[in-house]
Amino acid sequence: MTTENILTTAEITAIQEIYRHFPEKSAACIEGLKVIQQHHRWVSDQAVKELAEILDMSPAAIDSVATYYNLIFRRPVGRNVVLMCNSVSCWIMGYDQIAARVKKQLAIGYGETTADDRYTLLTIQCLGTCDHAPAMIINEDLHRDLTAESIGPILEHYQ
Ligand code: FES
Repeated sequence: MTTENILTTAEITAIQEIYRHFPEKSAACIEGLKVIQQHHRWVSDQAVKELAEILDMSPAAIDSVATYYNLIFRRPVGRNVVLMCNSVSCWIMGYDQIAARVKKQLAIGYGETTADDRYTLLTIQCLGTCDHAPAMIINEDLHRDLTAESIGPILEHYQ
């Protein structure tokens, strides 16, 4: 049984163009993974295989790069990905209360996606904004100085 390719011609062209600009394979790899994720939200095993063929790398090498970057998702995610910082400054500044509020509002735990596919909730290591802890990222947006009261309006903003 053959598996259908999932990368579109536009994606393949974009990745090949990146490869021309980043002859270093590992750099081209991470940019290629980002292209795939922009189109599919996450990077499946089949997508890894196709990217490996374009970059003339092994799927295992692609997978290890993808695993290293925690903003590359190797499992399906919802339309909005909420990444809660769970490192030390955020703990000190009230992570527990913020995390509890987020989980309650979304009615999911870490690693889960809401039934309507609207949110996936994950953790992430220090976001480098410790002086404004607690912090989280939703999609590409950094939210800092979080309070229990600010969580509701922030989450509602993401459809
Ligand atoms: S510990 Fe959360 S931003 Fe640094």
